[in-house]
Amino acid sequence: MYNSKIIGLGKYVPENVVTNDDLSKMMDTNDAWIQERTGIQERRWIENGSEDTSAIMGAKASEIAIERSGINKEDIDFIVFATMTPDYYFPGCGVQIQELLGLNNVGAIDIRNQCSGFVYAVSVADQFIKTGMYKNILVVGAEYHSNGLDKTTRGRGVTVIFGDGAGACIMSREEDTTKGVLSTHLHSEGKYAEKLIVESPSIRHWVPQILESEEEDLSYFPYMDGTFVFKHAVVRFSEVIMEGLMKNGMQKDDIDMLIPHQANLRIAQFIQKKFGLGDDQVFNNIMKYGNTTAASVIIALTEAWEEGKIKEGDNVVLAAFGSGFTWGSAIIKW
Ligand code: COA
Repeated sequence: MYNSKIIGLGKYVPENVVTNDDLSKMMDTNDAWIQERTGIQERRWIENGSEDTSAIMGAKASEIAIERSGINKEDIDFIVFATMTPDYYFPGCGVQIQELLGLNNVGAIDIRNQCSGFVYAVSVADQFIKTGMYKNILVVGAEYHSNGLDKTTRGRGVTVIFGDGAGACIMSREEDTTKGVLSTHLHSEGKYAEKLIVESPSIRHWVPQILESEEEDLSYFPYMDGTFVFKHAVVRFSEVIMEGLMKNGMQKDDIDMLIPHQANLRIAQFIQKKFGLGDDQVFNNIMKYGNTTAASVIIALTEAWEEGKIKEGDNVVLAAFGSGFTWGSAIIKW
């Protein structure tokens, strides 16, 4: 058995910055409400006419990750792509990455686990590497939310939160099993599927039904019971981080860097307080990007690394919670 190690990180966000004041011109909202409830100051939204999509942003982030990893494209054995906003209903974005980057005809899978998608993707890649089946895996998280949001006052409870962006990393075989990904922990609770959902188009509710419905059909916009999700998020984040620490015989103060999914700054601050972590032990960038769902953990991890906040030997904890509900953590010895 081997371990897997992250050897290259990259991110890409669209240039177009949308501030809270910009949103208040589209809907009844304001900077004070958004900052107080979520911590978000601005987010990136793909501009009309841009070539960017989830797959294209993912490819741009991947180019950087591959370059920084020092491996060649020919050395990539497999692609794992996490997104809830794929370019097509099918096929998934993973195969687009294979084509866009000109990779060998390696396997590609998409992970559909929303906000915890990247942690799930890391776990999937880790299993392939652990068993020796693959040596180098490209793991991508990307979301193009802005084209699917209700940009009127009706949608303000959801729309102000989400941003577009992508991140990627190369996970590679590590012979020393005291290094790299030490463990991953994944959970789900499907009874709450409809608390955070985009219902359509789906095979149960396809385009003709949407167009024919008497009233305006809103099932293709995200719906979230925000307060309900918030309450579950703080509990599950804490549980799954503790689960990871216990599995590895670690204590709270062994955490050098916690990268929480960027759902809401208030959630991250609650977790920080609960675990008694200092400001230098938790990384947040939701202020700049909003919630980029499957891209959020990998964008944050990349920025933390770029800013020199992660050093060799550090205990890095990734944790996420979101629609499904699904949640998970990864404990990494950097
Ligand atoms: N601007 C101004 N007012 C807004 C608004 C906006 N963008 N969105 C909602 N409001 C209003 C509501 O209409 C409501 O008004 P009312 O009291 O007159 O009915 C009021 O603000 C409070 O709304 P509520 O939804 O109860 O706010 P909240 O304190 O729960 O905060 C969230 C909303 C979404 C920020 C918060 O619930 C949250 O972060 N939830 C968790 C999100 C999450 O973790 N997701 C996980 C993965 S994506």
